[in-house]
Amino acid sequence: MRPVFGRGAANAAASDCALAKKVFIKSYGCQMNVYDSARMADVMGSEGYARTDNPEDADLVILNTCHIREKAAEKVYSELGRLRRLKERGVRIAVAGCVAQAEGDEIKRRSPYVDIVVGPQSYHRLPSMLSAVIAGDREAAIETNFPVDSKFDSLPPVRADGPSAFLTIQEGCDKFCAFCVVPYTRGAEFSRPAADVLEEARRLVDGGVRELTLLGQNVNAYHGIEGGLAALIHALAAIDGVERLRYTTSHPRDMDDALIAAHGEVPALMPYLHLPVQSGSDNILARMNRQHRAEDYLRVIERLRAARPDLALSSDFIVGHPGETDADFSDTLALVEEVGFAQAYSFKYSERPGTPAAEAEDQVPEDDKSARLQRLQALLNDQQLAFNQAAIGTAPEILFDRRGKHENQIAGRSPQMQSVHVTCSGPVEADAMFGQTRQVRIIGAHANSLSGRFGRANETNSVEELQGA
Ligand code: 5AD
Ligand code: SF4
Repeated sequence: MRPVFGRGAANAAASDCALAKKVFIKSYGCQMNVYDSARMADVMGSEGYARTDNPEDADLVILNTCHIREKAAEKVYSELGRLRRLKERGVRIAVAGCVAQAEGDEIKRRSPYVDIVVGPQSYHRLPSMLSAVIAGDREAAIETNFPVDSKFDSLPPVRADGPSAFLTIQEGCDKFCAFCVVPYTRGAEFSRPAADVLEEARRLVDGGVRELTLLGQNVNAYHGIEGGLAALIHALAAIDGVERLRYTTSHPRDMDDALIAAHGEVPALMPYLHLPVQSGSDNILARMNRQHRAEDYLRVIERLRAARPDLALSSDFIVGHPGETDADFSDTLALVEEVGFAQAYSFKYSERPGTPAAEAEDQVPEDDKSARLQRLQALLNDQQLAFNQAAIGTAPEILFDRRGKHENQIAGRSPQMQSVHVTCSGPVEADAMFGQTRQVRIIGAHANSLSGRFGRANETNSVEELQGA
């Protein structure tokens, strides 16, 4: 890696050595954390820190944590246990993200060797915190206030890294689903002004980005422009060079008429939508405080499909929410059968301290949760495979954004978000394809990906080709 020379206060205070310092950042949880990790890398980059993939090389290790389920939060403590030995050679350890926000004191108690605890709205302060900690100021080691509107203004300009980029446009959530910690860890709903979003998008496109995924915990509650998310999508699609747009994660209640219409009106808006429903039972939806019924969700899907018939759908499901009976669970299976998902994420309900659902007396036994999860996942996996198999013989446009696992293999995404692998004629072709959008003939379908060849749908497939997929 090319050395970067330090010029910031943190770097100067840390060492007299002119060689680059390195930061290792591990991201847990959602795509918003991936975005935040990249921005933390930018922040530390402007202090002279180069990003490394190896914690053994690092001068600063940042764990960007997730608090959504207990397992995710517990992972952080075991990772910290493993990292502890790095302290012997002076490595500084920071815990960022939602566990930092929710459990700052607990982290300091359980892992006293952690140097910095920084919440998701405060990571632009990492350099000054690091300098202060290096200077021996323990008070500066925890920063988890909610100065929600100052972070974006204080971050260095974003840098493009590949043809696909995340762009956070909204943070926090006011929905207060009974099971969810997000309104407590990420705070109240906040939308970035459209002008800032458009400027960041232009900068990314100038750097070679072709596909933008707009992020927010409740992204379709976006109100940084008159007309909401639909208006922002129209404005982004008008930027020269924006080929593809996606957005995640949405709430069914905020799928307004204009946004539904945008799916039919904006060709760059890709035919894939992650729209979590969580449960198919009206009883449980009410207990979850989702503020809609199963029927409302189905009608939104119907309208979306009328606007964009090839729309692929994805969702999140929770099984075993307090109060969920076998009959409620059957309603979830029925909803899945009715919609037909291209992919989905499903989880066992996890009690989160401080949320209303955690206080409920009618918690579902662990064995029931496990059995329901297995049944739901079997159904969702069948649907996903069927969806992928239906792509065989078609020729979607694939945006190649990464190398595949095998030699000369290149990978990208279909408009409907499937991972597609193509083996190129050699390394020169594989390199040339990176960042390009090309039509690919789909010749094989697997549970989580498709394989394809360059060429059109109606070219004849040899039997060998089809079998070799
Ligand atoms: N238990 C299990 N899953 C949860 N999710 C959010 N909170 C919980 C919880 N307490 C799931 C929801 C949400 C996704 C990001 O995580 O399905 O949509
Ligand atoms: Fe959590 Fe999403 Fe509900 Fe907001 S809408 S409380 S982020 S599950």
